[in-house]
Amino acid sequence: MIRIAIFASGSGSNAENIAVYFRNREDIGVSVIVSNKRDAYVHERARKLGIPSYTFSKAEFDEGSAVLDTLHEYKTDFIVLAGFLLKVSQPLLDAYPGRIVNIHPALLPKYGGKGMYGDRVHREVLAAGETKSGITIHYVNERYDEGDIIFQTTCDLQPGDTPEEVAGKVHALEYTHFPRVIEAVVTGQTSLNPLSSA
Ligand code: GAR
Repeated sequence: MIRIAIFASGSGSNAENIAVYFRNREDIGVSVIVSNKRDAYVHERARKLGIPSYTFSKAEFDEGSAVLDTLHEYKTDFIVLAGFLLKVSQPLLDAYPGRIVNIHPALLPKYGGKGMYGDRVHREVLAAGETKSGITIHYVNERYDEGDIIFQTTCDLQPGDTPEEVAGKVHALEYTHFPRVIEAVVTGQTSLNPLSSA
């Protein structure tokens, strides 16, 4: 059994979608959800899914040991960031080398970096007059949104699209692609079945 921990700071719709995708599987599963926000809606989703969820402070994420204790308690093999706000600290990177992936709601390397989260990303994409946005799934390293890219795909933007409309298009791509890309990564299939890139 390959066990995944999901890190999420907000609503957690991706966390739920991933957990549902792997539900009833004997080879891969979501074993725990971890957040830096006690009031994040992801905890309610976790409760309904029957998945334990925990909150740690930024200081605890930075220092690492309490988070790692929990990850080890749930025998975590891979970490998936699904709308997680904080930079992943060195102790976590050291404990999970090449085993942390993130999804970003735009086409990196543009519109990434510190503070580029959720609707802020969509507003900047629209302000720049882009005709396309999309998703980027990438490995996590010590710099925000700069790890090796695993998969990208695009959606068209229309003149007059609102940030909410862009978020809807991007979320649809996330729900379709993120679980299967995670599956490919955790089973080591990314090089055997090359995934399309934008
Ligand atoms: C997702 O769109 C994800 O790509 C984005 O936050 C949203 C979380 O939605 N992540 C980032 O912006 C990371 N920089 P969710 O909580 O409903 O899954």
